[in-house]
Amino acid sequence: MSVKLFASLSLAVWLFTATSTLSQSNLYVLDTHGDPLETDEEYFIRPAITDNGGRFTLINRNQSCPLYVGLENTDLPQGYPVRFTPFANDDDDDEVKVNRDLKVEFVEVSSTCVQSTEWKLGENDTSIGRRVIITGRDDGTRNAGNYFRIEETENASIYNIGWCPTEVCPTCRFICGTGGIVRENGQILFALDGSPLPVVFQKKDD
Ligand SMILES: *[C@@H]1O[C@H](CO)[C@@H](O)[C@H](O)[C@H]1NC(C)=O
Ligand SMILES: *[C@@H]1O[C@H](CO)[C@@H](O)[C@H](O)[C@H]1NC(C)=O
Ligand SMILES: *[C@@H]1O[C@H](CO)[C@@H](O)[C@H](O)[C@H]1NC(C)=O
Repeated sequence: MSVKLFASLSLAVWLFTATSTLSQSNLYVLDTHGDPLETDEEYFIRPAITDNGGRFTLINRNQSCPLYVGLENTDLPQGYPVRFTPFANDDDDDEVKVNRDLKVEFVEVSSTCVQSTEWKLGENDTSIGRRVIITGRDDGTRNAGNYFRIEETENASIYNIGWCPTEVCPTCRFICGTGGIVRENGQILFALDGSPLPVVFQKKDD
């Protein structure tokens, strides 16, 4: 094979690969390096823009269990990583997809609360008028309160986290919502029903 022919063949293959990767890219959730999130890896979640808090963490809101999902008050590398577990894994792959129901669970947590560290939709909190995100196992219909989803924004690698578990329960009528922050007594809680917080996912072992 001539060098020229080889070169143009290589180019053709490269172009084909590049285009097919491109057309699929928004199927997967990407981390801060542009790599797809994987179900067996751990990630820190943090705001895409500064001044919205640090990494996601567990918040002890009033000296009692369960703990709330919230954000660190500092940019220091604190907070807990999470692991994602999709509700359905149709292609049998280990990559996390956008707009699909998944569980989010804090890992490597040291806490005195016996509850699971899975994220769970909490009640519409009377003091703030928004649905807070707490931790624990949901015993309701098909554990729907434990399934969140990662939603695309207009910017690559920047996402919102929402709750709308229609894969878990297609016949349920949910009041869907997207997560944002609420500041309370110097703490930052994560709750639905306000302005969405754009977030990024940083692989733990970076
Ligand atoms: C924790 O604080 C919230 C808001 O101040 C309040 O609604 C809730 O009842 C408190 N929970 C306990 C167990 O004290
Ligand atoms: C939560 O409660 C507030 C009032 O406190 C209400 O305006 C809001 O619609 C409620 N949200 C949901 C999802 O029910
Ligand atoms: C997303 O992109 C728009 C336009 O490029 C920009 O104005 C906005 O600040 C970006 N949002 C985030 C969260 O980076």
